[in-house]
Parts: sequence; C-alpha cells; structure tokens
Amino acid sequence: MLARFFALPGALLLLTAAAGCAPTQNSSSTPANTDLEGQQAQGFEDELDEPLPSFSAQGAPEQQRHDRIRNSAALTAQEAAAIYRALADELAQTYALSGDPVSAGYRDWQRFNTAPYKSMTHGRRYVSNYANAIARDYGKYEAAGRLPVGSVVAKDSFVVTEDGTVSAGPLFVMEKMEAGFNYVSGDWRYSMISADGALLGRTKGAGAERVEFCIACHLAVEDQDHLFFVPQQVRLSP
Ligand code: HEC
Repeated sequence: MLARFFALPGALLLLTAAAGCAPTQNSSSTPANTDLEGQQAQGFEDELDEPLPSFSAQGAPEQQRHDRIRNSAALTAQEAAAIYRALADELAQTYALSGDPVSAGYRDWQRFNTAPYKSMTHGRRYVSNYANAIARDYGKYEAAGRLPVGSVVAKDSFVVTEDGTVSAGPLFVMEKMEAGFNYVSGDWRYSMISADGALLGRTKGAGAERVEFCIACHLAVEDQDHLFFVPQQVRLSP
C-alpha cells in the first residue's frame, strides 16, 4: 500500500493504491456526472449503464461494463499530467505482477496523448494510450487503416475522486492476433489487468466473459479496425 500527498492548486491529493476493479453496484441508478462530459464520451455514456444490446449476455450484468467512478474529479491537463508523472512507473510495476509481457513493456512505447484524459467509456478514469512499434500507424489515427499482426495498444488508468484521492486503475490492452483468431473482435485480443496486477479477463482466455463488453463497444468502429483513437484535444500530432 502506498500513500502519498500531492500538493496541487486547490487540492491536496492522497494517493492510495487500490484494487480499483471490483464491480460497483447500482451504477445504473446513479445520475450522470454532468460537469465534465467531455467530447471523448462520444455518446457512449448511456450504453455503459445497461448491458450492451449487441452481444449475448453471459455472467452477471456488472461484468458487462466498467465499474464507473461516480465522483471523478475534474482536473486540468497540467494536474492530470503531474499526477501521472508521479504515478506511472508504479502503475506499470504493479500491472507487471500479472506476468503479462505487455504490462512489463508498454511504458517504453510511444504514448499518443499529450496528457491523461478522462475516459467516459473506461469508467471515468484518467487514461493514456501507448502503441508498440508494430502499431506505429496508430499515430495516423483515422487514416491508420488495419494494423498488422503483432500490434499492441495499451491504455493505463488512474482514478481521482472529488475529495482528491488518487488510486490506480486497470490496464486495458488490445493485441492484434493472427487472421482467424476471432472474427467478431477483428482478431483483436482484449485483456484487462487489474490495478493490483491480476489478469481479470482475456479474449479466448481466462475470464473471457469479462472482456466481451470491450469487443461489443469497439465493434462500433469496425470500419477503422475497431480503434477509437485519442480524443482530439489531447492527441499527439501525427
Ligand atoms: C462503451 C464503449 C467502450 C467500452 C465498453 C470499451 N472501450 Fe476501449 N475505447 C473506447 C473509446 C471511445 C476509446 C478511445 C477514447 C477513450 O479512450 O476514451 C477506446 C480506446 C481503447 C484503447 C486504445 C485503442 C483505441 O481504440 O484507440 C484500448 C486499448 C481499449 N480501449 C481497450 C478496451 C478494453 C480492454 C475494454 C474492456 C475492458 C474496453 N476498451 C472497453 C470505447 C470503449
């Protein structure tokens, strides 16, 4: 357990490492946070509240969506970047406890966002997107075309609540497998590694049902190889 204070303008932030991935209950009855519904929500906010219609339900409903952070704080890009600078190495080290090679290596890859941004579609966590060398065309964004086999995109995350508590969030991973791996996911293998370094789910692997909702939502952008890319306001220039 790590505990740390960040002195930021107007906020004293207590940092604690938390499991961060236990399903929350009653999310669907919670009124939406209207303060910061950024452009990155892209209209998916409501879909997080209900099981997505486009895939067959397996397991409990709470396994079919991200556990949402209800009182996620509004940070400036500078504040988010400062917290991330202090936190990022420790995040990666903890993900690496899973034994997954992506979690051990992604911090050496190119990062495509200029500051962590609040992802409405990944539980209102602050996220950063990295892509490996094979996936370098990710940086062409909507012009990237289909990424080659061996491409990996990894998204780490942390949570800041309105009372200033900072905690680790999961690592979200997409790996492009051989043609024929899984038609519906466009041959992407989705994985989610918890904030405390456990592999929670993986397409065609352990806990596969926990990452089906990833496939379902990303299917909306099938025509751009299931990739949504980085929101414009924090996009690294191509
Ligand atoms: C409700 C829709 C939705 C769900 C569910 C969802 N994603 Fe995403 N995903 C997005 C959007 C939108 C982006 C780009 C903007 C952002 O990060 O918020 C994205 C970006 C990503 C990226 C960076 C690659 C890209 O598309 O640009 C990864 C990796 C990723 N998601 C993994 C996952 C994993 C793993 C899960 C399941 C645990 C998941 N996603 C669930 C909508 C979703």
